[in-house]
Amino acid sequence: MLNFENLSERFAQESYLWLVTGVAGFIGSNLLEALLLRKQRVVGIDNFATGSKANLEEVRRVVPENLWKNFVFHEGDIRNVVDCRLVSEGVDFVLHQAALGSVPRSLEDPILTNSVNISGSLNVLVAARDAGVKRVVYAASSSTYGDHPGLPKVEDKIGKPLSPYAVTKLVNEMYANVFARSYGLDTIGLRYFNVFGPRQDPFGAYAAVIPRWISAMISGDEVLINGDGETSRDFCFVENVIQANLLAALAHSGAGNQVYNVALGDRTTLNELFIALKEALKENGIAYTKSPRYRDFRAGDVRHSQADITKACNLLGYSPEFRIRDGLALAMPWYVRNLGTTKQA
Ligand SMILES: NC(=O)c1ccc[n+]([C@@H]2O[C@H](COP(=O)([O-])OP(=O)(O)OC[C@H]3O[C@@H](n4cnc5c(N)ncnc54)[C@H](O)[C@@H]3O)[C@@H](O)[C@H]2O)c1
Repeated sequence: MLNFENLSERFAQESYLWLVTGVAGFIGSNLLEALLLRKQRVVGIDNFATGSKANLEEVRRVVPENLWKNFVFHEGDIRNVVDCRLVSEGVDFVLHQAALGSVPRSLEDPILTNSVNISGSLNVLVAARDAGVKRVVYAASSSTYGDHPGLPKVEDKIGKPLSPYAVTKLVNEMYANVFARSYGLDTIGLRYFNVFGPRQDPFGAYAAVIPRWISAMISGDEVLINGDGETSRDFCFVENVIQANLLAALAHSGAGNQVYNVALGDRTTLNELFIALKEALKENGIAYTKSPRYRDFRAGDVRHSQADITKACNLLGYSPEFRIRDGLALAMPWYVRNLGTTKQA
């Protein structure tokens, strides 16, 4: 079976054309970097709704100039099917990341989240189908488990969605399934669980917990914990997510038309996360001495989340290489550099 080590041989033999939607975002730009460094050709689309030109500039600085030339960027919107068709021409694999993330954002503006995540994704599927791509690998979400109480989460046991965002991610899976049955389009959905790493946006009302806390700690601000801190999540370093995407794209046909959990398969409480972040910051010369402030539980948050990653390991050859502390050790210098301070909090 394909695994992450012999994947390099495949890439050395063949240069494919990849479409990365949401290429200027956190996960999209990390995928772009990984593909270019593996001498692949990439076309990317983004409308900078939440992604940034700075992310693309950073990839440009990291990859050698001759490899950067293998990237074509199209500023466009996946809600426009003409844009989707344009970027799908001649593409072998689609890595579909473009979406509006965040449960609270979807509660505030369900119409916008719906139009990007459902109509936009439908356009991506239609364009991929018509362009005859080999496979569409798309970003699904652990939010699809909704109110199902089971732990760890197994792919075929889902509950009811708890937010408009979760509805959109479930509908993406349904459309992918229907496109496989109706048109023979090969798809794989990767249900990401709390991804973190360099280039994840620390700012704004909808920032994820890890970058938000790092930003607060570097500025010497108070860290706010929703609930008693014993809420837990399966935090997954972005390099593991890259591995899953590359494996999924090239996996044998029997692995297609299914969904897979992509996570570490472990649980970290918010209290443990707070300590791990403090320690990783200290390694980078910043001593954070404040205690966190606890406030009410956030409505709609599930208490615990943990993935069973057996299916991805068995069928895709997925083997997450980075545990949470490894990931934090690699991500922290990026935050310290970019949030630009060595201030002692
Ligand atoms: N980060 C996580 O923990 C996590 C967890 C589960 C699922 N996901 C999914 O992974 C994917 C990537 O998430 P991310 O964390 O990198 O988020 P992100 O916000 O950094 O990236 C999303 C990208 O999509 C772009 N985009 C948004 N609307 C668009 C549109 N209409 N047309 C073109 N581009 C558009 C944004 O500008 C951004 O660059 C999303 O589909 C998200 O739902 C992420």
